[in-house]
Amino acid sequence: MSKNSLSITDNRTGKIYEVPIENETINTKYLREIKINPTDLGLLTYDPAFVNTSICKSTITYIDGDNGILEHCGYPIEELAEQSTFLETAYLILHRQLPTKNELDKWINDITLHTFIHENVKKLMEGFRYDAHPMGMFVSTLAALSTFYPEAKLIFDEELRRKQILRLIGKVPTVAAFAYRHTKGMPYVYPDNDLSFVGNYLNMMFKIAELRYKPHPVLEKALDILFILHIDHEQNCSTTAMRVVGSSHADPFSAAAAAAAALYGPLHGGANEAVLTMLDQIGSINNIPQFIKTVKDGKGKLMGFGHRVYKNYDPRARIIKKLADQVFDITGRNPKLEIALELERIALQDEYFIKRKLYPNVDFYSGLIYKAMGFPTDFFPVLFAIPRTAGWISHWQEMILDPEQKIARPRQIYLGSQKRKYTPISRRG
Ligand code: ACO
Repeated sequence: MSKNSLSITDNRTGKIYEVPIENETINTKYLREIKINPTDLGLLTYDPAFVNTSICKSTITYIDGDNGILEHCGYPIEELAEQSTFLETAYLILHRQLPTKNELDKWINDITLHTFIHENVKKLMEGFRYDAHPMGMFVSTLAALSTFYPEAKLIFDEELRRKQILRLIGKVPTVAAFAYRHTKGMPYVYPDNDLSFVGNYLNMMFKIAELRYKPHPVLEKALDILFILHIDHEQNCSTTAMRVVGSSHADPFSAAAAAAAALYGPLHGGANEAVLTMLDQIGSINNIPQFIKTVKDGKGKLMGFGHRVYKNYDPRARIIKKLADQVFDITGRNPKLEIALELERIALQDEYFIKRKLYPNVDFYSGLIYKAMGFPTDFFPVLFAIPRTAGWISHWQEMILDPEQKIARPRQIYLGSQKRKYTPISRRG
């Protein structure tokens, strides 16, 4: 019997099964051999919300949630945030290695050549109501992009796949900015390819009448760091949506729209928006104890706290907290920061949060920075989606090229009615 295995005794039959352990994991296909009768389906596993299930092998992102560690292709997030740029990190997670100077220059140039969107995409966006949620516009427009690039369906053509990757990363800031301008009733600003990725994005968002928009270098750098921090987080809800939809061989724009829809929810990318709403509701430091009591009574959540994987301080939240000071030096201090700091202090000392290992996550402080930079609250999930698109597309490509992957199709435990005869409506009730 191999040491790297699990012996399972089926007490119904007395049979013993040996299941190999690889990478601290057992492959559930072996459980299908555990059955009473040869015609039985075999044992299934039950794991709602995939709490203890690996759905793939990946070489992109490593997280050690107990120790608060996040690495992309082996590089700690702290080093990437300090020394890399968003586009370089995007190259890293797609190619699994840092680019040379020439490779990086070409990569930046290639992305920059894909920042414009078709005029009909603009017209499509003009059709949204004036008060449409920017994330709703973003999700729908991503899906619509698939109709502009029908060749994106040819997902096994390497060159075409690369083209869609460039298009997605290059165009999402433009779609995001157009969604913002639409809600403001302001004319769309076309991309300026002389600016950096983030500089151009800020230009499309905030340019008004000036001849040339000049992003503030500190704010431009801060947003670039925020984009690095949000670029990927392995099998989170939206990335899983990207993989699941992509597994049916849908084109990457449709799959990315599904991923963005998953990100929209307040338990995921919508949490930073929910944090600001929560801070507004709390209103002042004096109301914090009462608010904490409400949370502990199960009447709501402390938004921006807790994580499925991190049972320690989210390393991204630590970096963002420091970044906030640099941004507030330029923009002025957001009064809600005091509430957030005090909320964190109280929560981290409270038995309820300690026992459940609830710490601030990436969303707790990011919204405050976005707000200080002039982004409206309902726009925060879109700011998350821009960099995460690079993560989604990296996972999508990894999944497409993985020979062990198939169309995602989980099983269920059926607990409904047994077979029964159809009753005509005249004889019911
Ligand atoms: N406030 C209060 N209690 C919480 C919180 C919270 N933010 N998060 C978890 N808990 C409690 C749960 O009620 C549960 O308590 P119980 O054991 O008494 O029932 C316990 O902690 C465990 O929580 P789960 O819901 O089992 O944790 P799960 O891994 O399913 O959820 C999640 C993780 C969704 C992030 C959750 O912590 C949450 O809703 N947080 C607030 C929303 C948020 O900030 N989301 C952003 C996540 S990061 C991201 O997506 C980028």
